[in-house]
This record gives sequence, structure tokens and C-alpha cells, in this order.
Amino acid sequence: MEQRSSLPEHVAIIMDGNGRWAQLRGHERAYGHTAGVESVRRVIRAAARRGVRYLTLYTFSTENWGRPAEEVEALMELFCRCVIDETPELQRERTSVRIIGDRNALSERVQSHLARIEEDTAGGDRLTTLLAINYSARWEIAEMARRVAGDVASGKLDNTKIDAAAVASRLSTAGIPDPDLLVRSGGEMRLSNFLLWQCAYAELYFTDVLWPDFDGEEFDRALEVYATRKRRFGLLI
Ligand code: IPE
Ligand code: IPE
Ligand code: MG
Repeated sequence: MEQRSSLPEHVAIIMDGNGRWAQLRGHERAYGHTAGVESVRRVIRAAARRGVRYLTLYTFSTENWGRPAEEVEALMELFCRCVIDETPELQRERTSVRIIGDRNALSERVQSHLARIEEDTAGGDRLTTLLAINYSARWEIAEMARRVAGDVASGKLDNTKIDAAAVASRLSTAGIPDPDLLVRSGGEMRLSNFLLWQCAYAELYFTDVLWPDFDGEEFDRALEVYATRKRRFGLLI
């Protein structure tokens, strides 16, 4: 049966194009990352206002470690600063923040800032924002496989019962519905190792708009396009 829902419950975003945006203006790439924070603020506000329940933002991929140390350091600094600066606004918007990704490889300072934002926003009941930091879908799937193997070895899971639900409950997004809509800014048409399991049936929306130019209007445009899509999930209309 065709399913048509005008509003996605879960929107995932690949926030791409910060570096190009900065370079077009004759600045260092880090300048674009700082400008991108404003877009994050706008999109969280727009998502909460529209009634979206879950927003997942691709913030730093495991592959991004391969960038020049200077840029990686600027990004880590930005994460720490944002935790402090943005917490009051997130609390006002009743947004809880949850981090997904491999935290262990982050510095203790970054880890403690991320733990703090999760604690300080835990009461947010309007919107849940998942920040994918040091995330990659292949890391997450390998991690899930380790958990499945551990649970089988300890007798907690019967190996004949390994099904899609058993897998989903061992991913970092356990308990959260799959994204209905995946948005990518910055013009590239690829997934870059983001939510490969969870986006099996997501509607895809690509825009050339560079992330620092992405605003509430762009978000609404993506929602409008989503509302025109016919989701079939492999069935016949
Ligand atoms: C996305 O913007 C942000 C991160 C990957 C951290 P980019 O930094 O990839 O910007 P472009 O794609 O080079 O313009
Ligand atoms: C994806 O953007 C990662 C984030 C937005 C955090 P990239 O710029 O790293 O992806 P590629 O290199 O274009 O695939
Ligand atoms: Mg990029």
C-alpha cells in the first residue's frame, strides 16, 4: 500500500559545503564551519516548529580525520564552544541532544563537552537532535556485529534470532525510527558513509545550496518536496 505522509518524523542531513562557501569568499575553510553553526541553529528551530521529532546531523565523519590537522582542530574547538554557547537555546527549543559515533577516539575534553550537552538537554521533549560525530555507517555496522557476537557468545541472543530488529536494536540509533527524509546540501549526490542501514527507505533530497546558506526556507523546501513523494516500500500502489 502506498504510504503518504506529509511530514517526515525523522530528517537526516549531510551538512556539506562549508569549505567551498568560505573559499568562495577568500577565507580559510574553518570560517565556513563557524558559519555553518548558524545554519544548524536555523534548522533546529525550523524542525521543532514544523513538528519534526528527530533530526540527525552529520557533523564529522571518521574519514574527516584525514583532513589537515589545522582544520580538524578548528572543528573540535567549534564542537566544544557550541556546547557551551548553544545549550540555553536548545533548552528553550526543548531539544534533547544525543551523540552518535565513536566517542572513544575523541579527546577527553571533547568527550566531556559532548557528555555535558547530552546531560543538560536531556529534558528536551519536543525534538531529539542526533549529532553524528566521528561517525561512519561502516564503523557502526562493525560495532553492531561485535555486539551481536558478544550477545550470542554470552547466551543473551540465539543465533537463529538474528533479524533486522536484532540488528537495529544494536545500532547507535536504537529506539529511533529510521529517517524518512535524507537531505544533502553542497551539490554532491552521495551518502559518504552516513546511516547506510537506516536510510534503506529514506526519500533522498539533494540541493546545490552550500550548508552555510541553508536556512529555514531551504528546510521548508525539502519538506515540501518530501510531501509530494509516494513511498511504496516495495509494494504496489
Ligand atoms: C562539511 O563541509 C562539513 C564537514 C565535513 C565537517 P565540508 O568541509 O566538507 O565543505 P566542502 O564540501 O569542502 O565545501
Ligand atoms: C560528509 O561530507 C561528512 C559530513 C558532512 C560531516 P564530506 O565532505 O566529508 O564528504 P565527501 O568527501 O564529499 O564524500
Ligand atoms: Mg564536503
